[in-house]
Amino acid sequence: MSAPEEAVMAGDEARIVAPSPIDAILTGRFACRQFCNAPVARRTIEQILRVARFAPSGANIQPWHVYVLTGEVKGKVSAALLEAHETSRDEHVSEYKYYATDLPGLYLKRRQEFGRLFYGSLGIHQADSEGRSRQTAKNYTFFGAPVGLIVTIDRRLEVGSWLDLGMFVQNIMLAAAGRGLQSCPQETFAKYHRILRPLLSIPAEQMVVCGISVGKAKLQGQDRLMPRADIDEFATFLGFED
Ligand SMILES: Cc1cc2nc3c(=O)[nH]c(=O)nc-3n(C[C@H](O)[C@H](O)[C@H](O)COP(=O)(O)O)c2cc1C
Repeated sequence: MSAPEEAVMAGDEARIVAPSPIDAILTGRFACRQFCNAPVARRTIEQILRVARFAPSGANIQPWHVYVLTGEVKGKVSAALLEAHETSRDEHVSEYKYYATDLPGLYLKRRQEFGRLFYGSLGIHQADSEGRSRQTAKNYTFFGAPVGLIVTIDRRLEVGSWLDLGMFVQNIMLAAAGRGLQSCPQETFAKYHRILRPLLSIPAEQMVVCGISVGKAKLQGQDRLMPRADIDEFATFLGFED
């Protein structure tokens, strides 16, 4: 390689390795569970969705649909789900399975650590099932967020399309974070698809995958509570010289 080419490579490498503005958005996003009720304009959500739709998807099939709720409609949904949570929670079940029945040890350990940190931060004892149920109920009010999204996917699609959907959901959360908004992805909504379907006119072929609360975080300067494993725990590098 000639000297000028080397210089360009070195410059590129430095630019790639240096922190970029998107890093701050990625690391600044967290599952927010306390929102202030300041409204978020339809235009803002439209803009978030307009950029989120650039998520990649196999063969570009874009297998997502999203119901955007605010005001009275969101209130109606919350009231119906809160009532179901209070009176008939055992009669409802998600149409898909989120967690493996027998989590392998590593993941089980992480889930236990999640429970310890999460309920610990809320002052809820792990054995306090009433306290945990009250916290679960907050999901259905979208944690006080002014906007709630319900995300669905066509049930005729395969697991690959669920990968695509995950990227779309993440794009929504990052686009929100880039605008000073926070979010919480919520699988808890999937279980109440029988209630959501008539309320939102969700067609039979659509499966409710999750909700997403979107709004301004109540506590400014709040940060992520959940740690992450370091890269040597999940990445295997092969063929590098150093
Ligand atoms: C698909 C998905 C579903 C989730 N469902 C819920 C939920 O129903 N309720 C909730 O409080 N958090 C939910 N979470 C948030 C996770 O608990 C959170 O992302 C994880 O603990 C890591 O924390 P962080 O996002 O703040 O880094 C969900 C996350 C994902 C990706």
